[in-house]
Amino acid sequence: MEKTRPYVLLNAAMSADGRIAGRERRQTSLSGPRDRGRVDGLRAACDAILVGIGTVLSDDPGLRVHSEARRRARVRRGLSPNPLRVVVDSRARCPPGAEWLHRGEGPRFLLVSRRAPRERGRRLEERAVVVDAGSRRVDLPRALDILHRRGVRHLLVEGGATLNHSLLAGGLVDEARVYVAPRFLGGGGAPGLVEGAGFPVARAPRARLAGVRRLDDGLLLVWRFSTRPCPREFRDGAGG
Ligand SMILES: NC(=O)c1ccc[n+]([C@@H]2O[C@H](COP(=O)([O-])OP(=O)(O)OC[C@H]3O[C@@H](n4cnc5c(N)ncnc54)[C@H](OP(=O)(O)O)[C@@H]3O)[C@@H](O)[C@H]2O)c1
Repeated sequence: MEKTRPYVLLNAAMSADGRIAGRERRQTSLSGPRDRGRVDGLRAACDAILVGIGTVLSDDPGLRVHSEARRRARVRRGLSPNPLRVVVDSRARCPPGAEWLHRGEGPRFLLVSRRAPRERGRRLEERAVVVDAGSRRVDLPRALDILHRRGVRHLLVEGGATLNHSLLAGGLVDEARVYVAPRFLGGGGAPGLVEGAGFPVARAPRARLAGVRRLDDGLLLVWRFSTRPCPREFRDGAGG
């Protein structure tokens, strides 16, 4: 059966030298206030936010909509205050106390593979719907198909570097919005925007530059990978 998927928007902040975190691999504040507001607008506009377990283990993000006004506007539209929060975690390594499992109202999915020990999955079931989505690793086309079947049409991906690579390698990204901060991080261990196995130059994904905007003290770059039109939800007032 043909797999369907939501519109996938990958958002990230990186230093001027292409790193999304410092060499400590911890959450690194690269955005300014206007960029943070833009990302909060994307969170409020999407149906679901997706991150990799590496990001949960290093940053412990809440993945919430921060603005109360935006949360209220979602509720007025008949939605939960926060979008569906989704983590890909083949082995169910997510700590039961992780912030995204506890902060704020809204549904949560943990996508695991058959390699995940049952006991760990069961413990996490108290806080999230645990979904089998692969044999050894989370199968991303299948994961996006599952999300689409559950009504997710607009998916915001918030990293990290390994998940970004897998999605690009699978041709699963429609658009990337990358904030380039006026900071220089360097360091061999600092993750770049796209890591994993990388790409041979001849097969490196190619994008079309669809927008450049000065924001805070940096630049917002909009890259298009597919010809799918950017949905309205990701345009007006959502940092398009
Ligand atoms: N500046 C930014 O915008 C931003 C945003 C987010 C994160 N970050 C930074 O990024 C870093 C974390 O990135 P990361 O690369 O270590 O982790 P990640 O991309 O968040 O998560 C990768 C992990 O997800 C799991 N996974 C399951 N199925 C997968 C699949 N099909 N493809 C890829 N991964 C899959 C894998 O672990 P299992 O095999 O165990 O499941 C994999 O190791 C941190 O330093 C964080 O601060 C920066």
